[in-house]
Formats: sequence, structure tokens, C-alpha cells
Amino acid sequence: MGICGYLAVPGKCLVVLGLKLLFLVPAGVPARSGDSVVKDNITVRQGDSAVLKCNVDNKVSRVAWLNRTTILFAGSEKWSLDPRVILMENTAVTEYSIKIQNVDVHDEGPYVCSILTNKKPKSTRVHLIVQVPARITNISKDVTVNEGSNVNLMCLAVGRPEANIIWKHHSPRGIHKFVTEGEHVELKAVTKEQSGSYECIASNDISNPDVRTVQVTVNYPPFISKARSTGTPVGQKGVLQCEASAVPRADFEWYKEDRRLLNGLNGVKIENQGKQSMLVFFNVSEEDYGNYTCVATNTMGITNASIILYGPGAMHDVNGAAVLPRCSICLLVTVILLYLLKF
Ligand SMILES: *[C@@H]1O[C@H](CO)[C@@H](O)[C@H](O)[C@H]1NC(C)=O
Ligand SMILES: *[C@@H]1O[C@H](CO)[C@@H](O)[C@H](O)[C@H]1NC(C)=O
Ligand SMILES: *[C@@H]1O[C@H](CO)[C@@H](O)[C@H](O)[C@H]1NC(C)=O
Ligand SMILES: *[C@@H]1O[C@H](CO)[C@@H](O)[C@H](O)[C@H]1NC(C)=O
Ligand SMILES: *[C@@H]1O[C@H](CO)[C@@H](O)[C@H](O)[C@H]1NC(C)=O
Ligand SMILES: *[C@@H]1O[C@H](CO)[C@@H](O)[C@H](O)[C@H]1NC(C)=O
Repeated sequence: MGICGYLAVPGKCLVVLGLKLLFLVPAGVPARSGDSVVKDNITVRQGDSAVLKCNVDNKVSRVAWLNRTTILFAGSEKWSLDPRVILMENTAVTEYSIKIQNVDVHDEGPYVCSILTNKKPKSTRVHLIVQVPARITNISKDVTVNEGSNVNLMCLAVGRPEANIIWKHHSPRGIHKFVTEGEHVELKAVTKEQSGSYECIASNDISNPDVRTVQVTVNYPPFISKARSTGTPVGQKGVLQCEASAVPRADFEWYKEDRRLLNGLNGVKIENQGKQSMLVFFNVSEEDYGNYTCVATNTMGITNASIILYGPGAMHDVNGAAVLPRCSICLLVTVILLYLLKF
């Protein structure tokens, strides 16, 4: 205890101790409560400058600024080795203020201005609060997984006050959806609908939110979404269309019965454009009519669809199955009607 024995507040004790070391406080002068005034907190952003103000009057004989228990300035003499701490050009005689440049989080804490007036010590406390805008420090790398796998995404952020993290999902179809809150996202047994970009938004109201995204790619086997043909008369250009959704993108092959069709041979051309493949007949002949198969393959699987190239008389549905020509149905109905009218 020693020279500090009569003090109740430990912080104050240390301050007084610091001043005693400076021979500012004569031994035996009791520091009464009420000598220390707690001022409002000073809030600054990391990187900015903080000005710590202290009012003095002309009766003041000794002054000092302390950071916790460390003396920064004693009068105009600098004790601190930190170049960021400077004594301000105090124009008014009644001011004894310092400036801390490029404030960092370590600077947060209590600062004390100690004054000796008429052999009486007095101190002003200032609490420096350092704010840090929310900033994402690490985020998961883009991932590619197979349908049904689990995906864990991470987004780490710093900030003072602590950053709040939310996730939003932007699906390839452009639907924005709030996913979850927090640093981690767990997607169990992912479906292809869950692919897309995941946006991590870190905010703490100090500045604009920090936003970064992770791309999640979900592989899935092809499925044929469109298999279409049009009735084509002999002597004209004919086209069979096949469209497959797949990740990675599907490779296409065309067959007539068991025979694989090759691009540029037998009067056909195969045109692949993204998710679509077209079998083009330059000049349709009788022999071209028939049942064709479009095969779509990727690393995840294989699928096929039958598409029929038919003459101008026939009707067709999307699956490629031929139906009766329209007139056959009309004929059938007419026959039944006539049969019924007979009775
Ligand atoms: C100053 O900041 C401290 C710590 O953050 C807090 O406990 C106190 O209530 C604040 N005082 C004022 C006057 O804002
Ligand atoms: C204040 O003290 C803390 C703790 O010792 C230190 O990290 C920080 O750099 C100091 N700041 C100034 C401006 O002296
Ligand atoms: C980000 O986090 C990953 C996984 O925890 C780690 O391997 C990587 O080193 C981190 N990157 C940085 C820049 O901290
Ligand atoms: C299509 O083939 C027929 C018979 O082989 C031929 O007469 C006709 O000129 C061809 N048409 C075109 C546009 O090449
Ligand atoms: C098309 O798929 C069926 C059933 O999966 C299979 O039996 C058939 O061999 C396939 N056809 C071709 C040409 O790949
Ligand atoms: C076309 O061929 C496939 C198999 O190769 C068969 O399943 C389908 O029924 C055929 N379509 C027609 C209209 O004959």
C-alpha cells in the first residue's frame, strides 16, 4: 500500500502515484473524492484522430496527460515515445489538450488529465472508445459439389461494436432469399435449386455494410426439358431440337435406331448451343423420316429422349410420340355420329 494507502480507487491511486513520481504531488496531501471528474466518452473511428481536451486556469502550476498509468505528457515535455501523440497548439492559456493520430483499438481506455492547483491535485478522466467499421476478413472459397452433398459456408468479420452477419441467396433464376444469420451456413443435401451466389453482409452501423459473395455450384445429371420436331415435307430443311438441363453442361449425341449420326455426314449437321442441340437436315428425303434419339451426358449421368421426324400429314406431341393425323379423328367421330343417327 505505502503512499497509496489512503486511496480507495485503485486507478486514481495509480494516477496519483504517477504524479508523485513526477514530484507533482507533495507527500501527505490527501486526494479527496470529488477531485476526479468523469467526462463524457469520446468516440472515434479507427484511423481517425482523437482530441483529448483539458481545461486549466492560470493558477495551475503543473499539468500532465496519462494513458492509464503511463505519462504521455508532463507539461510540454513529451514522455510518450509514440509519434502519434502530440501536444496541441493550445491557443488559449486555459487549454491543455493532446491529439492522438491514427487511433487504433489498443488506444481504447481511460485517459487522465492531472492538474496541480494551489498544491491541490485534480484530474479529469476521458474514456476513449474506438469504433471499427464492419469488415469481412475471411470468406469461404467458391465451391462445386454434387447434388445431395452438404455444404458449409463461412464468413468471418471484425468490427466494433461486433459485426452482425446475415446471408442472402441469389438463385440463378434471380430469386433473392434471406438464408440465415451468423458466421456459418450449413446446407444439408443440397439441391440444384440451392446453387447460385451466397451473399455475406456484415454490418454494425458504423459505415456501409461490407458485402462479399461465395458461388455455390451444384452438379446434377442431365434431364431433357425439350425434345421437339416439326412436320417437314420432302425437299425442305428439317430441324430436330433437344434441350437438356445439366451441370456441368451436357454433351449431346444423336442416333437413328442404333446408328450414331455424325456432324456433316449423311446430309445432317449437329448444332450445339449451350443447353440445346439441334439435328439439322439440309434437304429432307423419304428415308430421313423415322425415330431419332437425342442422348445427353455429363459427369453425373446420362439420359435420352426419342424425337420423330415426320411428314407434313402427322401430328406430334412434345415427347415425340406420333399421334393420329387430325382427319382420322374427324373421320372416326363422323362414323360414330352416323352410326348413332341410324337408330
Ligand atoms: C462510457 O463508456 C463506458 C464503456 O463503454 C460505458 O460503460 C459508459 O456508460 C459510457 N459513459 C457515457 C457517459 O456514455
Ligand atoms: C495507451 O495504452 C495502451 C495500453 O498500454 C497502448 O496499447 C496504447 O498504444 C496507448 N495509446 C496511446 C495513444 O498512448
Ligand atoms: C480463411 O479461412 C480458412 C479456413 O479456416 C483458412 O484456411 C485460411 O487460411 C483463412 N484465410 C485467411 C486469409 O485468413
Ligand atoms: C433436295 O433433294 C432433291 C432430291 O434429291 C433435289 O431434287 C432438290 O433439288 C434438293 N433441294 C435442295 C434445296 O437442295
Ligand atoms: C435410352 O435410355 C434407355 C433407358 O434408360 C436405354 O435403355 C436406351 O438404351 C437408351 N438409348 C440410347 C440410344 O442410348
Ligand atoms: C422410338 O424409339 C424408342 C426407343 O428407341 C421407343 O421407346 C419409342 O417408342 C419409339 N417411338 C415411336 C413413336 O416409335
